[in-house]
Amino acid sequence: APRAELTRAESLIREVPDYPSAGILFRDITPLLADGRAFRETVDALIAPFRGAFDVVAGLEARGFLLASAAAYASGAGLMPIRKAGKLPRPAAHVEYALEYGDAEVEAHADFPRGSRVLLIDDVLATGGTLVAAHTLLGELGYAAAGTAVLFEIAGLGGREAVGDPTLHTVFRS
Ligand code: PRP
Repeated sequence: APRAELTRAESLIREVPDYPSAGILFRDITPLLADGRAFRETVDALIAPFRGAFDVVAGLEARGFLLASAAAYASGAGLMPIRKAGKLPRPAAHVEYALEYGDAEVEAHADFPRGSRVLLIDDVLATGGTLVAAHTLLGELGYAAAGTAVLFEIAGLGGREAVGDPTLHTVFRS
């Protein structure tokens, strides 16, 4: 994508101070999604390094779904929704992880053959807890990690180190 187009897309991410709680600077991507050209260029940039290297795109509920489904459609890959616990009728694997406040759990169905190459996509990387849990989940299902792609990386929270994936690709970062 032309760099100028991505720079414009980045400018559409709105910073919301003190949301959802005091001291948190929330990255709101809905203005970027609202702009058709920016949305398309951003999804293209998200998957560009992994072209031809994955069979499946996995997205994390809820905002990761928005990007992952577009990425799957754009690349002709299947889509794997990774959901918060309690939403799926026949979860084949579930992984608990710690959040800043309390615990969370992700689950998925096993709709793909073992060994499928999965590109993991989310909107924001903060502490990395969510992506680490998602990678563990993929491993439990016998899938191969094809890469990790995130729209926005918040630096300074140790997320990149926690994920520990040398393929980690982030389109924008703080
Ligand atoms: C947000 C974001 C990432 C995660 C990043 O999800 O969409 O999935 O937090 O944080 P981490 O790197 O510290 O794990 P959230 O749980 O707010 O869910 P949502 O997409 O449903 O809003």
